[in-house]
Amino acid sequence: MRSESGLPIERVYGPEALEGFDPAERLGEPGAFPFTRGVYPTMYTQRPWTMRQYAGFGTAAESNRRYHQLIEAGTAGLSVAFDLPTQMGYDSDAEIARSEVGKVGVAIDSIEDMRVLFDGIPLGEVSTSMTINAPAAVLLLLYQLVAEEQGVPAERLTGTIQNDILKEYIARGTYIFPPKPSLRLVADTFRYCKDEIPKWNTISISGYHMAEAGATPVQEIAFTLANAKEYVRAAVESGLDVDAFAPRLSFFFVARTTLLEEVAKFRAARRIWANIMRDEFGAKNPKSQMLRFHTQTAGVQLTAQQPEVNLVRVAIQALGAVLGGTQSLHTNSYDEAIALPTEKAARLALRTQQVIAHESDLTRTVDPFAGSYAVESMTEEIEEAARALIDQVEEMGGAVNAIEKSFQKAEIERSAYRTALEIDGGERVVVGVNRFRTDGEEPYEPLRVDPAIGEAQAERLARLRAERDNDEVRRRLDDLRHLAEKEGEQAASGDVSAGDGNLLYPLKEALRARATVGEVCDALRDVWGVYAPADAY
Ligand code: 3HC
Repeated sequence: MRSESGLPIERVYGPEALEGFDPAERLGEPGAFPFTRGVYPTMYTQRPWTMRQYAGFGTAAESNRRYHQLIEAGTAGLSVAFDLPTQMGYDSDAEIARSEVGKVGVAIDSIEDMRVLFDGIPLGEVSTSMTINAPAAVLLLLYQLVAEEQGVPAERLTGTIQNDILKEYIARGTYIFPPKPSLRLVADTFRYCKDEIPKWNTISISGYHMAEAGATPVQEIAFTLANAKEYVRAAVESGLDVDAFAPRLSFFFVARTTLLEEVAKFRAARRIWANIMRDEFGAKNPKSQMLRFHTQTAGVQLTAQQPEVNLVRVAIQALGAVLGGTQSLHTNSYDEAIALPTEKAARLALRTQQVIAHESDLTRTVDPFAGSYAVESMTEEIEEAARALIDQVEEMGGAVNAIEKSFQKAEIERSAYRTALEIDGGERVVVGVNRFRTDGEEPYEPLRVDPAIGEAQAERLARLRAERDNDEVRRRLDDLRHLAEKEGEQAASGDVSAGDGNLLYPLKEALRARATVGEVCDALRDVWGVYAPADAY
């Protein structure tokens, strides 16, 4: 038998599988180097993972209502989905944006929308993840400005911005600027958070989207960790000490239905990263060596046929994430292969986590698979294969060079094609799709987003632009442009706050003056241009 990563799976594993296996060296204690057994000594026995359901659609007011529903239903952390125009740094009234406003996430154009999004939510008491990449710094600063208005100081804010531009070039596509200025903005964000928002997780280096594009478990963690090395190098080269920012790096992976391999994947990823940070980057702080991660169950494995069967898939995938030691978890709704989740489906997704946390015994002991002949063997093999693939990327000069050769994308597409052939050929069973089908299924009523939202957002923008001090906005946007032009030199105009060439200071002042997301991104587009990969179609 073969695993999802194409590695051999033995029919039976016995003591010989762990011959020469030294638990002290390969496992260590939970919460200690190399963190194979988990990043905290007590893991879920002290505190369950964060139940953090990704949500957002339509206007800020509609999403705000969903957040209140999720908080009332018991979710412990917020996770904001932004619509594509926001993710791509366009305003809702931009010609290119119209048909997408509020569709796959919430439309945020300015500080006014951000204020509505978190209305009635005390930002000093929640941790908020924001799935935003190219304009991650912009949305983080809007969050900080709204918290300031609530009287919450920046040092109390907790949460995460995804801020992982490299995987956007590889698999997700919501990039704006070319790699070099994008990495500068990421390094500036690390520095800004070190100084201003110390409890904020500055990046969520993601394998999820590469997995959803077809990457195998080995490719998922190898390409993610190779990207992570590129970010660490960029930050160190910008003058930051590795232990000054590395504790606030975080990761994001998928959980597939192939539970055993997924558990082994998570354990291998922690051990690889711990060794990379200690041995290659000289990280001394154990928090710099910990791979803390969020997991989302595999969206690509949901089926539109017999959608209720997805409840079972998500439960198995969630078990894999928990047995693998995730810090935060999103369980997909059973109807998401059809449309945005209904409130009932979203609640069921959360209930799945609550049953695992409160009715199963998985929170009573740490890393129960430790010592398992099968899982420890799989962990070793996944680690070996992933390290070889990371080395291959490094031999090309690192992730950015490999991206410019389309290496990762080509490898993932090859895996995706193989999977598709296996499904079409029936050797890979998808229940309800290529086996165990039912005809004449009952109709399903999906959630629909009001198409008129684009007009409503455009009206809000027109009002904002009429009411604000446009001279002040122009001045602030010029400050931003000047600094973006001066690679890391002292700020051009005297009135930009302290920042030592850090873009986030002029960016914050522009947003405070009610410059829009599109306007600040356009100012940076003016200076940096946009990324146009050779193989763009
Ligand atoms: N012992 C000791 N301390 C513990 C503990 C234990 N057992 N459990 C938790 N803690 C502490 C932690 O140390 C932490 O304190 P600190 O911040 O001072 O260190 C605090 O309790 C919170 O614990 P975690 O940090 O482990 O949990 P969080 O939930 O706060 O953070 C994370 C988890 C992975 C580090 C963080 O980065 C995160 O929340 N990520 C979420 C990312 C996310 O939601 N992404 C969604 C993407 S959606 C997407 O892209 C897909 C779409 O495109 C389809």
